[in-house]
Amino acid sequence: MTQRKILITSALPYANGPIHLGHMLEYIQTDIWSRFQKARGHQCYYVCADDAHGTPIMLKAQQLGLTPEQMIAQTAKEHQADFAEFLIGFDNYHSTHSEENKQFASEIYTKLDQGGYIKRKTISQLFDPEKQMFLPDRFVKGDCPKCGTTDQNGDSCDSCGATYSPVELKNPRSVVSGATPVLKDSEHYFFDLPAFEQMLKDWTRSGSLQDEMANKLQEWFTEGLQQWDISRDAPYFGFEIPGAPGKFFYVWLDAPIGYLASFKNYCDKTGVNFDQFWQKDSEAEIYHFIGKDIIYFHSLFWPAMLDGAGYRKPTSVYAHGFVTVNGAKMSKSRGTFIKARTYLEHLNPEYLRYYFASKLTSNITDLDLNLEDFAQKVNADLVGKVVNIASRCASFISKKFDGKLSAEIVEPALLAEFTAAGETIAESFEKREFARAIREIMALADKANQYIDAKAPWVLAKNEATLTEAHLVCSMGINLFRVLMHYLKPVLPAMAKEVELFLNAELSWSTYQTALTNHSINVFKPLMQRVEMTKVEAMVEGSKENLQPTAAAPVANAAAEPKAAPAADSAASAIEPIGETISIDDFAKLDLRVARIINAEHVEGADKLVKLQLDLGNETRQVFAGIKSAYQPEQLIGRLTVMVANLAPRKMRFGMSEGMVMAAGPGGSDIFLLTPDDGATPGMRVK
Ligand code: MSP
Ligand code: ZN
Repeated sequence: MTQRKILITSALPYANGPIHLGHMLEYIQTDIWSRFQKARGHQCYYVCADDAHGTPIMLKAQQLGLTPEQMIAQTAKEHQADFAEFLIGFDNYHSTHSEENKQFASEIYTKLDQGGYIKRKTISQLFDPEKQMFLPDRFVKGDCPKCGTTDQNGDSCDSCGATYSPVELKNPRSVVSGATPVLKDSEHYFFDLPAFEQMLKDWTRSGSLQDEMANKLQEWFTEGLQQWDISRDAPYFGFEIPGAPGKFFYVWLDAPIGYLASFKNYCDKTGVNFDQFWQKDSEAEIYHFIGKDIIYFHSLFWPAMLDGAGYRKPTSVYAHGFVTVNGAKMSKSRGTFIKARTYLEHLNPEYLRYYFASKLTSNITDLDLNLEDFAQKVNADLVGKVVNIASRCASFISKKFDGKLSAEIVEPALLAEFTAAGETIAESFEKREFARAIREIMALADKANQYIDAKAPWVLAKNEATLTEAHLVCSMGINLFRVLMHYLKPVLPAMAKEVELFLNAELSWSTYQTALTNHSINVFKPLMQRVEMTKVEAMVEGSKENLQPTAAAPVANAAAEPKAAPAADSAASAIEPIGETISIDDFAKLDLRVARIINAEHVEGADKLVKLQLDLGNETRQVFAGIKSAYQPEQLIGRLTVMVANLAPRKMRFGMSEGMVMAAGPGGSDIFLLTPDDGATPGMRVK
């Protein structure tokens, strides 16, 4: 087999939010593929980075009272800790806010400009006169120009579905400051995407693009390619455009360049030859794994930018679908918007790696994480089938045969069937048909278990006369198990490591076809615990708790830069927009009271909650508040706060919660319990 040179990337996660299980689908898919390629002996590198620029990041940092640099440094740590625990084996993890990226962005831009691919045009946009900044679409709200519904986003109306330009909104206001925006002219820089139409068409046909992606591209060609606005005016967190003071690269210009930057950073540390991968005539293969929402950027802008600047284009771009949980979009209120960190607090990361692998195909359909099915499948397949083979055979070998496998393979045809499957399983991995690979592996696991059932070594081992046969059968079982674990190694790297210790042998594509005979193995230790539904439930509860802290919703986490509609320049709000108006009668329904915290304690098994006893003057209430990330219970005792006293009691896993305390802030250590001034006493109504 010839050794291939392969560079693999996953999309760069935004540096303003935590990694969640939707993201994890992508990193797990890419990691399995990368581990597989490495195991096959190829020269393969897997790099990634945080995507650190843009308006939402700038505003979120301001809101937290941090510099953007401080905020992205904090997020970088959290992201990498999450990835490491999910066993994502990046060769390098960098940031788009890096020296390398600045270099490449300016070099690529300069080459594009010299090639005549950068156009300058003056455009008129909404400007916040108070904040002195241009407003991306999502940072403007107002009344729908078609139906008049109030409080609609700058690009579309939730009520009548109309799409429009933010300039058309009636009574517009800035989400950042509340000020009325004004129109202001500014010169913008555009990348001449239409100039690359023919090249992109050729690339679409020559590359190994997924059918769905090729079809999408075809639609975009039919609609006609557009000039792409790549500049933003200060204030902006990003790189200033060379020769254009006060103008910055739009985050999506330097984000994919981050792939080059991270790899360059790796090459500089290790001596790998960067040019061999990226120069125009390179024979190396380059693959970008992405979600279906960012296809436009990766299949049009990115190859065109590379081509225009004299680099080679990716070999392929592989898109996957979106994760749903229990059949629906991940939802914070249902507790199915599950952060990687929350998952890790409750469950083994390899369960999720296995479950995703068992459902992943090479196409772009969405993937449902059904939590019942997840527990059931992991238990049935990994614990019930795979681990079971070893646990049924190992103890006899340790106890009766001194830990030594038999000198002979008693069923060579069966073992040969297992090893022969290797090439088709490898082909499934290669084609990103992981579900198919897993099905084949599990069919073999069933066969191994049937073999052991039929031979019943536990019966053979009872009788001196058949002891040798018991040895042969158990050694056979261990050999079958070894072959399967070798196939599963890219999916379950930690368990595979345990198995290597147990077998006292490496699981490798160069040796798996040679059986282990006359070979000493170590004492078998349980390799994987069953998934307990109570832990899954605790994870879902824990995900709900993230929302618990306040009656007044915490200031929203800034969402990502927009991506679905590439032409639109919109961004989700960094600051929680003021909600719908309510009538004075609605307000009167709220019974807000001053309360004194007379006791506060930790809640067993809940990492976000504090259990509070509140004195309301003439009664006490028990309330669970999700404020533990900001307060130690001891600090709270004796304090006055404000509670919603007439909220219907809610049964939680830990007991009844009879009301809600009020706090403000984005979450984490930045939750601020509201405290009335001196003189207020428990029971007073807040008006
Ligand atoms: N920063 C951009 C990517 C720049 S790449 C040069 C971005 N970041 S993201 O954090 O929003 O998403 C990172 C990756 O996770 C994307 O490929 C995205 O499609 C993927 N996913 C985010 N949510 C997802 C699901 N719910 N399900 C599956 N993948 C999801 O986009
Ligand atoms: Zn409308």
